[in-house]
Amino acid sequence: MKYFVYTVNQLVEGIQEFDHPYLDSRRTQVFVQDNGRNLCTIDVKLSNYLGESVIEDQPVGPGITMPGLLLTYYGINHDLTVENIYVKPEHRGQRIGTIFMKHLFEIGKKAGVKKFSGVADPKTKAIDYWLKFPGFRVPDPNRPLYLELNF
Ligand SMILES: CC(C)(COP(=O)(O)OP(=O)(O)OC[C@H]1O[C@@H](n2cnc3c(N)ncnc32)[C@H](O)[C@@H]1OP(=O)(O)O)[C@@H](O)C(=O)NCCC(=O)NCCS
Repeated sequence: MKYFVYTVNQLVEGIQEFDHPYLDSRRTQVFVQDNGRNLCTIDVKLSNYLGESVIEDQPVGPGITMPGLLLTYYGINHDLTVENIYVKPEHRGQRIGTIFMKHLFEIGKKAGVKKFSGVADPKTKAIDYWLKFPGFRVPDPNRPLYLELNF
């Protein structure tokens, strides 16, 4: 249990230190929700120097939205999953997604994460985007949108 808390704290600290020329890191907000049984969600809000959020929440049902940059950490398997990453269209192409993900791999690895995983959005063909990250692979051909990176 202590190990779980340590890892989550390291992840949150690292995310708050994420530095990018387009973003105002002092405005970064990270919300952690402990769901019990060694599972937590990490909701990240990134903003630019104008105070605009560069991340967009996603509607998933009537009156229900999913945070636009949402991670889950499962302490039993040391598995960090990218549940959602949605950069607002007008802020895309500034390497926010790429640099954030690379930073996350680095801090996650240091904090003891053993596996990164994610499911590519079928609507945006993001599988091509994910496969550009070294180490990310599709382990099961029956689940062509499921990606993993193991340390
Ligand atoms: C995918 C996403 C998070 C990337 O964030 P970003 O900050 O705009 O991306 P970056 O600036 O770091 O990288 C841009 C590169 O990714 C490529 N890219 C972006 N979206 C892509 C997609 N759906 N498929 C393939 N390549 C994609 C761009 O063509 C560009 O390639 P280049 O480096 O060869 O020029 C962003 O485009 C987005 O929010 N897309 C819509 C939602 C989505 O598909 N999210 C992933 C859910 S699994």
